[in-house]
Amino acid sequence: MTRHFLSLLDLEAEELTALLDRADVLRAERGTTKERPLEGKTVVVLLEKASTRTRLSFEVGIHELGGRPLTLIAKDTQIGRGEPLPDTARMLSGYAHGVVFRTSGHDRVEQLAAHASIPVINGLSERYHPCQLLADLQTVRAERPLAGTRVAWIGDGNNMAHSWILAAARTGMSLRLASPEHYAPAPDIVGLAESLGADVEVVVDPREAVEGAHVVTTDVWASMGQEDENAERQRAFRDYQVDAALMGRADASAIFLHCLPAHRGEEVSADVIDGPASRVWIEAENRLHAQKALLEALFGAQWMESARKGR
Ligand code: CP
Ligand code: NVA
Repeated sequence: MTRHFLSLLDLEAEELTALLDRADVLRAERGTTKERPLEGKTVVVLLEKASTRTRLSFEVGIHELGGRPLTLIAKDTQIGRGEPLPDTARMLSGYAHGVVFRTSGHDRVEQLAAHASIPVINGLSERYHPCQLLADLQTVRAERPLAGTRVAWIGDGNNMAHSWILAAARTGMSLRLASPEHYAPAPDIVGLAESLGADVEVVVDPREAVEGAHVVTTDVWASMGQEDENAERQRAFRDYQVDAALMGRADASAIFLHCLPAHRGEEVSADVIDGPASRVWIEAENRLHAQKALLEALFGAQWMESARKGR
């Protein structure tokens, strides 16, 4: 059966651990390994929204694994002129060996996966950004074990917040999310994570969320596609900036993460994102290592088979 990666729940906890272990090895051994698991394979990166990191990290990663990345900007293709996604999925399956898809509605990622006979990777939807979380978890693990780590999410209950919620369900991290009224994460995702045993709490006050946190993280106040709401969002999120005072309430060892791009002076102050607690550049680089491990896994790597058998 074709394996897709549409959300973090597509990996069991043991598989996620094995993937992050492998990402650490790929990071350490970069440039020295002769293995080419994607030799002869083409992976399409299909973008319906802007991207810098996702495009770059997949293009470089696919290349380093011996494959050929092929980026398509959807608006320049027939998709942009309304060709149905199921037809696109069938056609892509005939040419390529995998596809990374960045789009708006999560139903579009699901629809592409439902009609593709090759692995589909969610490169960001309005609901989830699971590839980013692989890198984020790799970054946190370099500081401390995931289980027992206290994470504070400050700001919009968006695709990144939802991905942290599912990460809590798969890792034993505890998560406090602080969002203004009307911008809280989707209750069905919180409920899903809780049904899987996750320790997740949604609050309004950012100070309550960061108290004693080991990781403080946030994202832009207006995501791609929400540009029209920018003015009202600026007002709603005014008290949700991660600044030095807020970081001061976290654990003394706390690190700051942000998926990027960031808006200094809005969701984060310059002294925090450019300061000693910030790990954002390591986090961005880890996109490469974590996604190489993901690509290996989807193309049937031995280490992933062992993780599955160990379940
Ligand atoms: N973090 C992230 O996905 O960045 P891009 O939008 O640049 O791909
Ligand atoms: N929440 C942001 C993440 C960008 C990487 C967006 O969807 O635009």
